[in-house]
Amino acid sequence: MSDRAAPPPRRARRALVLAVTSGKGGVGKTFVAVNLAIALARNGLATTLLDADLSLANADVLLGLAPPRTIEHFFRERVPLTELAIEGPGGIRLIPAGSGIPELASLPPEEMLHFVEGLRAVGECCDVLLIDTAAGIGDQVSRMLMLADRTLLVTWPEPAALVDAYAALKVALRRDPGQEIGLVVNGADDEDEARRVHRRLVAAASQFLGRGIDFDGFVLKDPAVADAARRQAALVIEQPLAPASRSLERLAAKVVARARARSLSGASPRWDGNATHPGLQH
Ligand SMILES: Nc1ncnc2c1ncn2[C@@H]1O[C@H](COP(=O)(O)OP(=O)(O)OP(=O)(O)O)[C@@H](O)[C@H]1O
Ligand SMILES: [Mg+2]
Repeated sequence: MSDRAAPPPRRARRALVLAVTSGKGGVGKTFVAVNLAIALARNGLATTLLDADLSLANADVLLGLAPPRTIEHFFRERVPLTELAIEGPGGIRLIPAGSGIPELASLPPEEMLHFVEGLRAVGECCDVLLIDTAAGIGDQVSRMLMLADRTLLVTWPEPAALVDAYAALKVALRRDPGQEIGLVVNGADDEDEARRVHRRLVAAASQFLGRGIDFDGFVLKDPAVADAARRQAALVIEQPLAPASRSLERLAAKVVARARARSLSGASPRWDGNATHPGLQH
């Protein structure tokens, strides 16, 4: 008989969950989410990207992938989310959204609970779970944000996008005042412009919402982004030295620090052990 002690039970990983959202559509959420995910994976973090834009799937298209199954199979056939994940570039795992399943926008509570259970299982297999959402903070998106440890609110520097970012911030905080939100200014000419945009949003938010918003980073405006999209290639892989790739590496470095600090602190995801979590309320 061996007197060797049994190996300690393997502690499940607990992913840092980040949702990527915006007020206005087309400000670069999917571009940022996909490339940030790849940059994180290249920094050694097991990273899963959940495409939660259920009305218009596009993370897979941006990457030139043709997934055999999508999140639709989770809801319709109970295929676990972990089994739907496919290998993406740079070592990321991608859980593709299905298109044209609008009824998922108003999931009944038991389905939402099932979805959260599915996400929990995903979160135990990776270090960072990034959720790419649809624009505009509808009910569906709010629920995703409530499940995240932190929301990255993406805006473009133009005034119309900033107005919509403010509106999104307002809705998000009204639904879940405890939410951690950081601003990412995409398409900036330089850091100064990005910081000016952040200051304007902080001014409005502190005056009318009674709180500020962190500056999580910026991504430079770069024609290489559209070129890579046309080729269905990931910019940070294809053109790592392009200005936008370098910005994404900086953004990734911040997230890596956050994820490491979190794993050292042993914190649990927001959805853990909380049946009254706002994301589960109908
Ligand atoms: N930093 C950037 N520099 C130049 N072009 C960019 C940049 N980021 C995104 N774009 C371009 O902006 C467009 C919109 O990007 P993307 O699809 O990622 O936005 P989105 O917010 O996910 O849109 P939707 O709201 O439809 O989901 C794309 O054509 C993309 O190539
Ligand atoms: Mg998108």
